[in-house]
Amino acid sequence: MSGAQIRLWPELPKARIHPNIYGHFAEHLGRCIYEGLWAGPKSRIPNEQGIRLDVLAALKHLRIPVLRWPGGCFADDYHWRNGIGSNRPGTVNIWWQQGEPNEFGTDEFMRFCQVSGCAPYICCNVGSGTPQEAREWLEYCNFGGDTTLTQQRAANGNPAPYEVKYWGVGNENWGCGGRFRPQDYAKEYVRFAAYLKALDSRIELAACGTHFGDYKNPVLNAWNHDFCQEMVHADLIDHIALHRYFNRGKGTTFSDGEFQALFADVVTLEKDLELTEAVLTYFYPDKFVGIIVDEWGMWHPEATVDNGLEQDHTLRDALLAGAVLNCFNRWAHRVTMANIAQTINVLQCMAMTDGAKMFLTPTYHVFEMMRPHMGAELLTQAVECPSFEAHPIGLNNKHTVPLLSVSASRTGGKILLSVVNQSLTNDIETSIRLSEGKIETASGRILTAKDPREHNTFKNPKAVEPRRIKTEPVKGELTHVFPRHSLTVLSLNLE
Ligand code: AHR
Repeated sequence: MSGAQIRLWPELPKARIHPNIYGHFAEHLGRCIYEGLWAGPKSRIPNEQGIRLDVLAALKHLRIPVLRWPGGCFADDYHWRNGIGSNRPGTVNIWWQQGEPNEFGTDEFMRFCQVSGCAPYICCNVGSGTPQEAREWLEYCNFGGDTTLTQQRAANGNPAPYEVKYWGVGNENWGCGGRFRPQDYAKEYVRFAAYLKALDSRIELAACGTHFGDYKNPVLNAWNHDFCQEMVHADLIDHIALHRYFNRGKGTTFSDGEFQALFADVVTLEKDLELTEAVLTYFYPDKFVGIIVDEWGMWHPEATVDNGLEQDHTLRDALLAGAVLNCFNRWAHRVTMANIAQTINVLQCMAMTDGAKMFLTPTYHVFEMMRPHMGAELLTQAVECPSFEAHPIGLNNKHTVPLLSVSASRTGGKILLSVVNQSLTNDIETSIRLSEGKIETASGRILTAKDPREHNTFKNPKAVEPRRIKTEPVKGELTHVFPRHSLTVLSLNLE
């Protein structure tokens, strides 16, 4: 067993962890919306006006703060008028090779957000749409005055404005969102943003950015740099949005080496954040612009367009989610939202359904266990622990990566400490100390299994589930063993 130390400074809060870091993303893709969130009012799957009740209850329990919709790639070919009222044309979903009945549209999405208690985040169509179409969508959603569009909204059952705060101006516009060059997208962005902000200055806009290594220049984040250089109107931008997917070996049969290497890739995510922050502070020195990671998660090679991007859900995936959420927590000063892809049935989802059946994925439990970080004050921390050497994806050199991924936050007299032991083989005994004050009592839960390849299925839905653990401070300090390949969340009560 190896040893480690975690030191926390409860009196030195760094930033408030934005609850939206624990956000989600749902696209019209495979079975995410249809069968996932939406059964339809005539379905035999228990539902309330079309919304499936088991999924709704599961997501409500997570207290999901924000939901991004309708895409993804789908967003830049989505025409919102097809999805309101009684006349809804069936269209084709060009990116995911399926039909689109348009049964689930703006009013259904808003109702889903209302009943689940989350904020809507709409991604509008830049690739094949116009500023006018986006502006009219905003008018339909947010305008309080009497216009033909607001009358239509009322006729569709919703007289009060929806007050949608978050709007994305396109999705991956360097790729499926129109294959723009950054300078050309910047010009389009200004056209969209100028009219959206003129109609409703309270909204927050997210521009499409990208993670580094994805566009032209593998070292500098060229897209973000070139976009910001061209987009000189700081008043028109509130956030820049990046995506980061992870993939090391097959879903349930990855090698030991691939298990370890996956956690090094969180270093690359930190690099995305560092470089993007550098670009934002350089080009917008007088304005805070947040970073949104509005798509992230595991994307196994088995998840393809042919199977609607469905994959298995292992303990390893869940641990990666824990490490990524720890990273976002530590970046609370800049990361304003993150949306794991994609809520139900698709990629690293919270639950899988099959007709009326549903099971929760191991990743669901991570969101549930780490939920109290939402809105809490991030604490200053120092971690000394064993490390491993690996080559993070997209970087040129090997890095030394700590085996423990850690973040801590404080709400009143309670500290929440989340720790992922990223070692496949080593349990790590750790001494946990506060700079000031003492730990009076501690309680906790752990998510682990014999093997990180274990996964939840319809046959075995509880293969990976959290369980309670006991741990007791001695003289105000705690010595705790974090078992190999586990996520532990400890709640520490201060004296
Ligand atoms: O989440 C699946 C797809 O991945 C999204 O539609 C797209 O934005 C990204 O490339």
